[in-house]
Amino acid sequence: MITNIATERCVLSPISESDFGEIIPLFTNNEVRRYLGGPLSVEWAFNRLNESLLLNNDIRFVVRRRETEKCIGLVFITPHHNPADSEISYMFMPEYWGKGYAFEVVKRLLEFCRDELKLARVVSETQTANVRSCHLLEKLGYMLESKVERFGAEQSIYAKDL
Ligand SMILES: CC(C)(COP(=O)(O)OP(=O)(O)OC[C@H]1O[C@@H](n2cnc3c(N)ncnc32)[C@H](O)[C@@H]1OP(=O)(O)O)[C@@H](O)C(=O)NCCC(=O)NCCS
Repeated sequence: MITNIATERCVLSPISESDFGEIIPLFTNNEVRRYLGGPLSVEWAFNRLNESLLLNNDIRFVVRRRETEKCIGLVFITPHHNPADSEISYMFMPEYWGKGYAFEVVKRLLEFCRDELKLARVVSETQTANVRSCHLLEKLGYMLESKVERFGAEQSIYAKDL
């Protein structure tokens, strides 16, 4: 069973249905969804979240600030398009960008992948145009492995040995 994970300023908890109300604004936000295919409607987001809870191979955490217990983001560990790899993905509300939260949380998630999931490597795929995301991955020590055309845009596939 997956339990909570703590970082310096945040706590990551496995998503449950009671979190949906707080999580849905991430999926409907224009800025958050800019490089993720655009914002979803509330109904779509709700259905997608419900479906995702049924996918046993996926690990999805809601990220809360310890200080306020407010939801600030989501992080996922899911099978990648190349099924040999596990993929880490992340999204944070814009008011929490530029404060080091994504770095702090994904850094801890990489340790979790290594120590608890016993993974030897992970990948993260992000649109090449998503400069903030590419910068985050490079700062975390990922290496750019390849570029592919997917979802109508150039995607950069970054990999990190754990
Ligand atoms: C991609 C995304 C997570 C990046 O978030 P971010 O806030 O830019 O990333 P970080 O947490 O690394 O914060 C960056 C800045 O915070 C600054 N910062 C401020 N306080 C800090 C602190 N206490 N500790 C560390 N850094 C701090 C850093 O200087 C850093 O800037 P730098 O790397 O240029 O020095 C965010 O833009 C996002 O959620 N986008 C929408 C979803 C998305 O596109 N996801 C990618 C596809 S999977």
